[in-house]
Amino acid sequence: MRIQVVDHPLVAHKLTVLRDETTDSPTFRSLADELVTLLAYEATRDVRVEDSDIVTPVAPTTGVKLASPRPLVVPILRAGLGMLDGMMRLLPTAEVGFLGMVRNEATLEASTYAERLPDDLSGRQCYVLDPMLATGGTLAAAIRFLVDRGANDITAVCLLAAPEGCTRLEKELEDLQVPVTVVTAAMDEKLNDKGYIVPGLGDAGDRLYG
Ligand code: PRP
Repeated sequence: MRIQVVDHPLVAHKLTVLRDETTDSPTFRSLADELVTLLAYEATRDVRVEDSDIVTPVAPTTGVKLASPRPLVVPILRAGLGMLDGMMRLLPTAEVGFLGMVRNEATLEASTYAERLPDDLSGRQCYVLDPMLATGGTLAAAIRFLVDRGANDITAVCLLAAPEGCTRLEKELEDLQVPVTVVTAAMDEKLNDKGYIVPGLGDAGDRLYG
C-alpha cells in the first residue's frame, strides 16, 4: 500500500479552514469540493490512458485519451458524497458507483447499508472517496468489495488520515494482490478514545450535511 500526503500550500490552507470549528456548513462544503479537486489531480497521476490520433488546426498529431474500461468513482455515503463533484470535475466521463457504510460509534465497526456497484469490475481502476481514514475499518471493507468484483487498481482519496487507520488498512489488505494507494491532504497525529482523528476536523458527515 502506498500513502501519499499531498504537500501543497493551497491544500494546507484549505484544510486549515476546514479544520476550524467556526467554519460554517456552506463554506465547509465548498472548500471540501475545492480541496478534493486538488487531491484528485494527484490521485489521477496514474490513470490509464491510450494513444489517440487527432488533427489540430495545423497538423496531425498523437495525444492520449482515457483508456477503456473507464474508471469507476465510488463515494462512500454519506460524507463521501461531499467529495464527488470535486472528483468528477477532473474525471467527468468516469462511472459512479455507491457504497453506503456507517461506523458504529460504540464498537467502531463499519457496516454496509447500501451498495450500488457494477457487478463486474474486472480490470477497472477505482477511486474511493471517503473524507476520514480513522480506524480504517470503513475503507478496508470498501476496498474488499471492489476487489471481490475484480477491480485491480484502487486509489482512496481522503481529506485526513490517522496513522492507526493506515497501519490497520495495510495489515487487512496484505493478502490482496491489488495495488492500493491512499492520497490524503494530511496525516494527523492519532485517534482519540472515541475513534476521532486528532486534531482532525470533527465529524465530516455532520459538518457537510448535519
Ligand atoms: C465516518 C467517515 C468514514 C468513517 C471513517 O463516516 O466519513 O466513512 O467514519 O471511520 P473508520 O476509518 O474508523 O471506519 P460515518 O460512519 O460517521 O458515516 P457518515 O459518512 O454517514 O457520517
